[in-house]
Amino acid sequence: MSRFYISTPIYYVNDRPHIGHVYTTLIADVIARYHRLKGDDTFLLTGTDEHSNKVIEKANENGMSAEAWSKQNADAFKSCFQSLGLAFDDFIRTSEQRHKDEVRLRVSQLLESGDVYLGEYEGWYDEGQEEYVTQTAAEESNFLSPINKRPLVRRREQNYFFRLSAYADALIELIESDAMRVQPPGRKQEMLARIRDGLNDVPVSRISDESWGIQVPGQERHVIYVWIDALLNYLSAVDTDGRRHYWPADVHLVGKDILWFHAVIWPALLLALRKRPGNEWIAPPTRVHAHGFWIREGEKMSKSMGNFVDLEEIDGYVAKYGLDAMRLFLVVAGPLGAADADFARERIHETYNTNLVNTVGNSVSRTTTMLDKYFEGVVQAPLEHVASPKQAVLDLVQQARRAADDLAVDRMTQAAVAIVREVDLFIQTAQPFKMTAPEQRDALGGVLYTCIESLRLASLFLWPVMPEKMGEVWTRIGCAHYLAPTAEQNLDAWCAWGGIAPGTKIEKGEGLFPRLPAEIA
Ligand code: MSP
Repeated sequence: MSRFYISTPIYYVNDRPHIGHVYTTLIADVIARYHRLKGDDTFLLTGTDEHSNKVIEKANENGMSAEAWSKQNADAFKSCFQSLGLAFDDFIRTSEQRHKDEVRLRVSQLLESGDVYLGEYEGWYDEGQEEYVTQTAAEESNFLSPINKRPLVRRREQNYFFRLSAYADALIELIESDAMRVQPPGRKQEMLARIRDGLNDVPVSRISDESWGIQVPGQERHVIYVWIDALLNYLSAVDTDGRRHYWPADVHLVGKDILWFHAVIWPALLLALRKRPGNEWIAPPTRVHAHGFWIREGEKMSKSMGNFVDLEEIDGYVAKYGLDAMRLFLVVAGPLGAADADFARERIHETYNTNLVNTVGNSVSRTTTMLDKYFEGVVQAPLEHVASPKQAVLDLVQQARRAADDLAVDRMTQAAVAIVREVDLFIQTAQPFKMTAPEQRDALGGVLYTCIESLRLASLFLWPVMPEKMGEVWTRIGCAHYLAPTAEQNLDAWCAWGGIAPGTKIEKGEGLFPRLPAEIA
């Protein structure tokens, strides 16, 4: 049985969740569901990043302890993800003991090997991002943070450093050869160019009087830098006897803002750790995928602009269109590739109508209604037809699989919707509703077989996006066992033509996607 480990970034708890966090976690959920359907032993990890300075500030502002503030916001993330049907297998918080133990262990190992050393650092620091910026990058951005446009500050400190500079060749080899695939391809080139530009060693600790954070073992005043602390979460969650087999991660899914940490610093840390006897299993991830950003009316979403799509707004759409429809919208309209995507509320309505009401809902309803009317719901024997979409449908199935394997779940969804369009077209050309003469009965049964079978195939690739509605379709068409794939009975077997046996009784059921008035939620 294959195994599949996918992670999302762990989110800062200074704020409440918004569309950006929901989006990354949703895409990870869809990819994970696809793998569960394939019968893979799948592990989806998400969580919260809690040891940032901003957390202390925020907690103080709100008259709370850092612990209480973090817990409140970690709970908000968790329940938000749960309410959107995001089925994570674990939710890690960096303030948990299991994570602190892991970080201390790994940092001690790096100290022992000399990959982490004590040094002095002076450089340009982006306070918003909590990261140092190279001299070249600082000059290029006019000494302003490229993210929040605030001035970079000059900082000098005694830190422990990670010898990142020693790993340039190994990283180039790793990325260039695709041993660790960095996606999309443009981002891969961007990372390679930056590595070739030269790598500085990076600080792994800062001096702090706060007790919030994880201390360098034996060096109480040195608190481990929040990014090093955070990255290690991917290891903490699976470094147990029951879970170590999930390593290496198959996919770290991130936004483009944090690709450098995941495609450069993180694999270098892993390469350093791996050198140590006993750590041979600590290989770099197989793939790092960086998606673009949701923007709004052409503008970056930001707190100062007050234009974030927040949870209340998302909940409003869910209340109007349903959870599955909102999930589908985010998947097909979102910035999964290199480009950003504009969030325009009218597009939700449009996507709902074109993909769901007029296509998936309509096709399922027409097909099951005819089966019910002409054959009391019983599926008839298949027949070959001149205008049969069978081959086109099977080609689209392959297209959907390739897209999903490539993490392009937007294209997977579009291929599934295209299968449904094939069914619509076939109904239009074959006109089964006119085949009422007794001598056409077999032909009519054959046409409806092709329709229901094609819809079954489409449902396989719509399920990861719309688990609720497609689960219902599966119950109606006698495929409820798809919800529990096994080593033999899984997506591979179900992708073959002929999955619905003649004689199966289909339930008609209610319409899946009600037509809604055009006004906005
Ligand atoms: N805590 C770090 C990540 C540590 S991972 C070891 C962090 N947290 S964050 O809360 O700022 O989340 C950043 C992530 O949220 C992005 O990488 C992306 O996944 C998601 N998004 C935040 N804003 C976004 C958009 N406007 N659009 C899409 N996703 C974005 O960085």
